[in-house]
Amino acid sequence: MTEEMKIDELPGVGPATAEKLREAGYSDLMTIAVESPKNLAEMAEIGEATANKIINLAKREADIGNFETGDALLERRKAVGKLTSGVKALDELLGGGFESQAIIELYGEFGSGKTQIAHQLAVNVQLPEDQGGLGGHALMIDTENTFRPERIVQIAGALDLDPQEALTNVHVARAFNSHHQMLLMDRAKALAKEFPVKLLIVDSLTAHFRAEYIGRGALAERQQKLNRHMHDLQRFADLNNAVILVTNQVSAKPDAFFGDPTRPIGGHIVGHTATFRIYMRKSKGGKRICRLVDSPSLPDGEAVVTLCEEGVRD
Ligand code: GTP
Ligand code: MG
Repeated sequence: MTEEMKIDELPGVGPATAEKLREAGYSDLMTIAVESPKNLAEMAEIGEATANKIINLAKREADIGNFETGDALLERRKAVGKLTSGVKALDELLGGGFESQAIIELYGEFGSGKTQIAHQLAVNVQLPEDQGGLGGHALMIDTENTFRPERIVQIAGALDLDPQEALTNVHVARAFNSHHQMLLMDRAKALAKEFPVKLLIVDSLTAHFRAEYIGRGALAERQQKLNRHMHDLQRFADLNNAVILVTNQVSAKPDAFFGDPTRPIGGHIVGHTATFRIYMRKSKGGKRICRLVDSPSLPDGEAVVTLCEEGVRD
């Protein structure tokens, strides 16, 4: 496939408009190609007719993907790796572990263990394949400042890995708002050219979006942005044969749209793009119950995990 055109190279888009588009979050032609003229006009402060023209050009030039033959797809499926959680019951629930080329969403209330599992996987991914790892590095987009290097040291030590080395194989970026969070995907793509990145974590996927887009009026835009972000993540997963782990809180307070307090934020947009969804809830002590929810190919079921000093265990 040919290198993609840049936004500035679209005929009729001057540098000022290109800048406005980028500021509004349109990072590549694809994001413009799938936009509606009305939204694009509003976001970039241009006329709707111009927006329409730009979208049509972007549609023609964007790398919108292609048809693949069944055998090529099978070949790609064969490369799918399974990353162990370190918990037998949870691995079994997922058909052998956290799949690469897939997005796995962990959702649940505060303290349910989402961030703990993220830390555990950031270490496990470094293990060789015969030990359930993927022999790669982990990237983490940390939106809530909950990454703790000390936890990596503890978890790595418990697996007999060199803690210092384990730390150098985890790359963490803070994201200060949803726009920043999406921009960091560009850095992630660049890093994946330098290191064999096999796990990308976004913890939390939805917190910034939820805080920034408040009320019914902002819902459409929030869902659109989230949708774009999810597709970016899926592309990263496919390109790097990597596991994507995203976390999501359930809305404790009724949301403008998704009133049910046990519904994950982002509703169907996140749900339909994630390949696996795991609902986590608290049980006694350090025990947590993980429930696999609407998986396309696996039976629904539950696994119990224990959060402890060493990480996540049976
Ligand atoms: P939010 O991000 O607030 O939505 O929660 P979360 O789902 O990410 O929860 P998190 O993974 O941070 O879980 C926090 C829980 O993990 C704590 O309440 C503890 O039960 C447990 N935990 C964290 N660190 C340790 C540790 O070092 N030892 C033990 N035993 N438990 C720990
Ligand atoms: Mg957390």
